[in-house]
Amino acid sequence: TPRSPLSDEQISSPLQVFGQAKKQINKIFVDVQDYVADASERMIDVNKLCPDVINENELKSMLDYRSKVKGICEVLTRDHMKVAFFGRTSNGKSTVVNAMLGEKVLPSGIGHTTNCFLQVEGSQTGEAYLVTEGSNEKQNVESVTHLAHALNYEKQLNEKELVHVYWPKDKCSLLRDDVALVDSPGVDVTPHLDDWIDAHCIDADVFVLVANAESTLMVTEKNFFHKVSTKLSKPNIFILNNRWDASANEPEFLDQFNSQEQVRKQHMERATDFLVKELKVCTPEEAVSRVFFISAKEVLQARVKERSGFPLNSGALADGFGARYLEFEDFERKFEECISKSAIKTKFLNHSQQGKHLVKEMLKIMETIHNRSQEQTHLKMCQKKEFQEKLNFIEQQLISITNQMKMKIHQMVDDVEDKVSKALND
Ligand code: GTP
Ligand code: MG
Repeated sequence: TPRSPLSDEQISSPLQVFGQAKKQINKIFVDVQDYVADASERMIDVNKLCPDVINENELKSMLDYRSKVKGICEVLTRDHMKVAFFGRTSNGKSTVVNAMLGEKVLPSGIGHTTNCFLQVEGSQTGEAYLVTEGSNEKQNVESVTHLAHALNYEKQLNEKELVHVYWPKDKCSLLRDDVALVDSPGVDVTPHLDDWIDAHCIDADVFVLVANAESTLMVTEKNFFHKVSTKLSKPNIFILNNRWDASANEPEFLDQFNSQEQVRKQHMERATDFLVKELKVCTPEEAVSRVFFISAKEVLQARVKERSGFPLNSGALADGFGARYLEFEDFERKFEECISKSAIKTKFLNHSQQGKHLVKEMLKIMETIHNRSQEQTHLKMCQKKEFQEKLNFIEQQLISITNQMKMKIHQMVDDVEDKVSKALND
């Protein structure tokens, strides 16, 4: 059946396109699920009545398709968009995640803070809680200090381990729109980068490299992304030159505007070369929308203030805050467009191809059964006709025999009557 186009509903963020596509593909799969359930039940019924119309393999395949479609439906309801943040220790990865969420959710601080993988996603129940790997136990989280405590002291966590942090959806539009944000320990603190990639990166739709604008891209950071791009074809990578507020306070910059521009140009060139020439993941034109100069700390502070009812730009802010804030928002917009497009393609394209294949296979089976049942009906009709013709012939024979008998009896009776009357006369 034709479905309403995506533009029918109000879309205020590119992320909602993913949500709508998810809703529609879910609806389609529910229809397919109903169809395959109905078809397999009918096949079971028909098989009981006429076992030679459907063979065992056809019935088995149909039941297989039924469980496959059920499996796809389950995966579909869980599908979300995933963004993973990487970079050296203390570059501000956790702060960037918090800034995007608009509040301090993850622990951040100087030194090595994040010691395992943390996936923040929307909580269905509206409560904040965390679940550690291999456990179903929900640990309530009241505050970021509580979360930090739970992560640092109550458990001896392995750096590769994944802790799910479920945060109320109504607090953040990203979570409402099905984005999961994965924070990681610094790429410089582990020798197990390959394990990290296999465990956490394969299904990521977007990667964000949080670099330090006060220094430059490091070999460990580059190395990590080289490994990622050997395992994933053309990963979507954004580079955030974080701590850009520091450039505003730099006493060495005499002619501040020019110096800041020069540093920016240098970072931009290096980041573009990295994405375009080294990793070959985008064109120079695309790279312009992949590299940003931001201050996650400022954005976080401003958003926290705004939530408490103060104006966004209140408090002591370094020069150029407004421009940096706008650049962060620009990053968020480009990020949303990219993740939504990529997730629809990677997650739903595969499902819809699988779905189409299953429906085609089911159709083939149903057509084979239909043709076979028609052939059998035709055969039975022919047999019936042949039988009827024989019956008619026998009936005709019987009629003619009966008629002949009748005539003979009449003749005999007449003959006897003649003979009797003749005898009586004599
Ligand atoms: P690890 O978890 O240890 O790998 O570090 P991280 O990359 O998550 O860094 P985190 O977010 O914990 O930030 C480290 C420190 O840098 C914190 O004290 C932040 O407040 C500070 N910081 C983060 N972003 C900025 C920024 O844009 N400007 C400034 N000035 N400080 C920042
Ligand atoms: Mg951190």
